Amino acid sequence: MRLKDYCLFNTITYLDQVDSTNNYIKRQLQSGDGSIKAGSVVAARWQTLGRGRKDRKWISGKDTSLTFSFLLDLKHKDTNDIAAITLAAGVGTAMALNTLGLDCRLKWPNDIFIQDKKLCGILSETIYNNQNLQAVCGIGINVNMDNRALSSIDAAATSIYVETAVKNPPFELLPTILTGLDQWLGVWYEQGTKPIIDKWMSLAYGLGKPVQSVNSSGSIEPGFFVGVGTQGQLKLRTVDGGVKEVWAGDIVWQ
Ligand code: BTN
Repeated sequence: MRLKDYCLFNTITYLDQVDSTNNYIKRQLQSGDGSIKAGSVVAARWQTLGRGRKDRKWISGKDTSLTFSFLLDLKHKDTNDIAAITLAAGVGTAMALNTLGLDCRLKWPNDIFIQDKKLCGILSETIYNNQNLQAVCGIGINVNMDNRALSSIDAAATSIYVETAVKNPPFELLPTILTGLDQWLGVWYEQGTKPIIDKWMSLAYGLGKPVQSVNSSGSIEPGFFVGVGTQGQLKLRTVDGGVKEVWAGDIVWQ
């Protein structure tokens, strides 16, 4: 494999406290002060209003989580590849976390799980900046939370500390995670979605598990999770034996 001779990331800004690192990047872009460019990374010790998908809260305490976001240019990307950016970021993050001795799996569309508990969530948002399409990609990893802190999260969650009994200063993990992201987002940039889907499938959580697809009008369709399609869409084997593709609807795991 040819190694690329550039790095996607160029500057890292460390903040003590912010509402949300995704919001911070978007605000700085809107202000036009030039402090944020493609390749900028912003990490915070503490987020007061961390967000997840569908405007859910992302809970993290001071120095117990790694919370950061970065800005990427999408102007040279094929439109069909863009939906898979979250999968590429998931692969990069999971591969990096696995170098720490963890066994991370990817749960469609944007979570990293260890066994049946969530360790990390990813929130990708696209925006137009001076008519250029860009992505703000935010990653939250539970690092030092103990079981008591994790119990305040409304779904089963774990942390690196619970899994390994080792506490890490969260910012010290950032170079490792950025290395994984640089590698796999680089693959996505240069080779498109296919190698990302292949790698994602090798790390997939819950293959063959029963799931329900819930669309925006609330209608529910039961089935089994059988994989991810060429643009990152979930494939659901329905009870009549067909395969349905799910793009934006939520998935409820049984
Ligand atoms: C999810 O699980 O739905 C996604 C969670 C994403 C959380 C990260 S933390 C850094 C960045 N800033 C935010 O407000 N959200 C993302």
